[in-house]
Amino acid sequence: MAKVDVLLGLQWGDEGKGKVIDVLTPHYDIVTRFQGGPNAGHTLEFDGQKYVLRSIPSGIFNGDNINIIGNGVVLNPALFKAEAESLASAGYDLTKRLFISKKAHLIMPTHCVLDAAYEAAKGASKVGTTGKGIGPAYTDKVSRNGLRVGDIGDNFMEKYEKAKERHEKMILDLGFPCDIEEAEKQWFEGVEFMKKFRFVDSEHLVNQYIAEGKNILCEGAQGTMLDVDFGSYPFVTSSNTICAGACSGLGISPRSIGDVYGIFKAYCTRVGAGPFPTELFDETGNEMCERGHEFGSVTGRRRRCGWIDLVALKYAVMINGVTRLIMMKSDVLDSFDTVKACVAYEMDGREIDYFPFEVCDKKITPVYKEFKGWKRDMSKMTSADEFPEEFTAYIQFIEQQLGVPVWLVSLGPDREQTIFM
Ligand code: GDP
Ligand code: IMO
Ligand code: MG
Repeated sequence: MAKVDVLLGLQWGDEGKGKVIDVLTPHYDIVTRFQGGPNAGHTLEFDGQKYVLRSIPSGIFNGDNINIIGNGVVLNPALFKAEAESLASAGYDLTKRLFISKKAHLIMPTHCVLDAAYEAAKGASKVGTTGKGIGPAYTDKVSRNGLRVGDIGDNFMEKYEKAKERHEKMILDLGFPCDIEEAEKQWFEGVEFMKKFRFVDSEHLVNQYIAEGKNILCEGAQGTMLDVDFGSYPFVTSSNTICAGACSGLGISPRSIGDVYGIFKAYCTRVGAGPFPTELFDETGNEMCERGHEFGSVTGRRRRCGWIDLVALKYAVMINGVTRLIMMKSDVLDSFDTVKACVAYEMDGREIDYFPFEVCDKKITPVYKEFKGWKRDMSKMTSADEFPEEFTAYIQFIEQQLGVPVWLVSLGPDREQTIFM
């Protein structure tokens, strides 16, 4: 029986999941998404081309492997159509090798309006969502009102109209405008387009692949600190971004899980509102943002930047059972005289070494360990033997703190700028 490997973000998203999934894909027969939706923006670069994927797994660029959108995903047909068409025009026709779970839920145009309406109603305490209707779509799923991919067919219009009517009442109650004429037109075009793809009972299919000994890689979206249960609630997304999410989002047993790849940046970023203990508001933070091109791939928003947070990372490693660490964007720190890593928090005048429940309510001051910067351009290095000793010391400290080996280091956005340790 094959094992299913899971790659997931350990921070607040945008760690570089898309790039590494693409790098690892040649070793796998099947790549799957198991949660999230078009709030994700996964960037890949190779042969001088750049692609940003939102709902489609990042495994599609490799030959003829199979890609699956699992039941835990929420899908907007209009955005899916745009994404698949743009890939088709780049020479990647996915109709034969991208399967969609019948149980994946659909994001309706009114979900996007509700997302905006709830944010407006929250005022200053808004989450800063991506505006893609994620929260309202998952709310409908959990409250047993959702519309699923498998519903596309008989009585679909009836189900759609019923859900839309319910949403419109809610939007009216919130005193928010609702003009969805154009969005609705595109949405139905998207629904038609989706019919070109195979709708599958993905839980059966994935378990069949496991029994056949196929290699399967699951691609997480968002990051552990955005998990609806374990992240910095309420400043989180609405799905389980953690390893367990791969089980519920695909219908596989925890016993099927093999390696858990935990991916993080050599520093830390966050987009949207919510606590970020190591956030920098100074020149150093600006330099990280500029050198790392830290602007959201979905919304274009400037990402908040700060030093690596080993307290939060330790928490993420624990929850996910990470077996291999992947460190991204190490090159961004190449110019710094000093590099810092947060090893504890100060809260209520006391030093703590765990990620606290009160993270949104209390003032948290990071306690740092400082490292001498390596001050060397690492972006063209091709093996760990070339690493400056200051950089090696930084990695070794992280490994020792997290208790898991760093297995891969990324030194630039391109596929080639990847070093296996
Ligand atoms: P994802 O959502 O986790 O897939 O990450 P995003 O694609 O949203 O953001 C990661 C960004 O960093 C993208 O623009 C990547 O092209 C870029 N990137 C990935 N790895 C590296 C790296 O090692 N160095 C640099 N400088 N950029 C990287
Ligand atoms: P990838 O997969 C970074 C953030 C939003 C907001 C919060 C809730 O590219 O790493 P939502 O639209 O999900 O209801 O927004 O979560 N967020 C992300 N931040 N990367 C992502 O995805 C994100 N997806 C959602 O900014 O703070
Ligand atoms: Mg992203």
